[in-house]
Amino acid sequence: MNRANDIKTPINVGKEVKIRGWVHRLRKQKEKTFILIRDDRGGVIQCVFPTQKIVPLTIESSIEVTGMLAKDDRAPEGGYEIRGSSLIVINIADVDFPIGEYQSAELLLDYRHLTVRTRRMIEIAKIRATILKFAREFFIEDDWMEVTPPIIVKGAVEGGSTLFKLRYFDEEAFLSQSAQLYLEALIFSLGPVWSLTPSFRAEKSRTVRHLAEFSHLEAEAPGVCLNEILSVEERLISYIIHNTVRERSDSLNFLKSDVPSITHINVPFDRITYHHAIDTLQSRDFKILDARGKKRTIDVGDDLNIDSERELTKSARKPLFVTDYPIQIKPFYVKEDVHRKGVGLSADLLAPKGFGEIASGGMREDDILSIKKRMKIEGLDPLHYEWYLDLRRFGSVPHGGFGLGIERLLRWLANIEDIKDTVLFPRTMSRIIP
Ligand code: 4AD
Ligand code: MG
Repeated sequence: MNRANDIKTPINVGKEVKIRGWVHRLRKQKEKTFILIRDDRGGVIQCVFPTQKIVPLTIESSIEVTGMLAKDDRAPEGGYEIRGSSLIVINIADVDFPIGEYQSAELLLDYRHLTVRTRRMIEIAKIRATILKFAREFFIEDDWMEVTPPIIVKGAVEGGSTLFKLRYFDEEAFLSQSAQLYLEALIFSLGPVWSLTPSFRAEKSRTVRHLAEFSHLEAEAPGVCLNEILSVEERLISYIIHNTVRERSDSLNFLKSDVPSITHINVPFDRITYHHAIDTLQSRDFKILDARGKKRTIDVGDDLNIDSERELTKSARKPLFVTDYPIQIKPFYVKEDVHRKGVGLSADLLAPKGFGEIASGGMREDDILSIKKRMKIEGLDPLHYEWYLDLRRFGSVPHGGFGLGIERLLRWLANIEDIKDTVLFPRTMSRIIP
């Protein structure tokens, strides 16, 4: 069956065309009735029927229309319309379709199974699919092997406080926070590997950049150094954003994304050290809230939060790597620089204009004693990680990798305020339906 955008071409003018779709908008006048029909990829075309010949229709009814294509500059979305000759009703929708033009964000989320039919959600879904397509293409061309690590796991990667517990037969298990430890196991026999899995975080705070379930793209490679990992990250992201801008400029413009500035982004991305970041924030008298909710100046040892990330990147033109974090504010697996005690060989990547962290990566610690010590500090039981420690016992090599949040990347690229809109069916603390 034809789609609206295939039909709307000069060679079809004067010819009979047929389209199946849904009544997107309906305008009834005395003489004529105008139906904006939406096809199954969100393309729309206007169909006109004489009012006295048309059956009663409702918004979102599914129909099939046949008619002659005409050029009429008054017709929306391209100036073509179908002068209808036959209309078959497949299903008449109930009269009270709940999605209209002005609805609260909460209502749109309650009805997300229907909101996915709106133009905004359709354009977002297209950009998302394109991001995933080019991510996969990058890894294929760069000779990385795609793997599918488990989702049900026994141990935390990113700290115990955001774990989702589940009953696994007769024992306790968790939903994976990150595939990293499994990817680390695979580099010894498969070389550079990558995966795209759902990751889960029981995030208790409601923010515009946290989901309970997100699409996590992770990569891990043997025999690399930190600079090589960061180089893969920036080449990957650059490849994704430039190809997505090329293929989805209409969708990005519809969402009011800053396409020209994204088009100008090139590698290498900018870099600053953690200490430089703190100095910069202090020089601007940047304040954070302490544990008791009191404002104080940010200091060495404080983690960077969304506000400090925004301050650091508010006028940045390209993504910014923050390197050299103090090891104690990073997870147990981050490698300590042997030449600079206390410095972690890892980096977070911050998107420009305050969109915040989109990726984290670095070298992995290979000293078993240090890993065990840091696991205990994080409250993790090293016994659950014996298999992981085996990777250090049997032929360990320097290695590293990174994790990129697809929704964080999409949020920045498509200029979406709330991360819930980057997923079709968001999972948050207060939402699991639909
Ligand atoms: O920074 P994170 O926690 O790092 C890891 O999980 C590493 N083990 C990855 C690795 O090296 N293989 O998560 C990586 C990225 C973040 O930078 C962010 O983009 C995204 O995953 N992310 C989230 N996205 C949406 N909602 C959340 N709650 C997220 N938590 C992390
Ligand atoms: Mg991180």
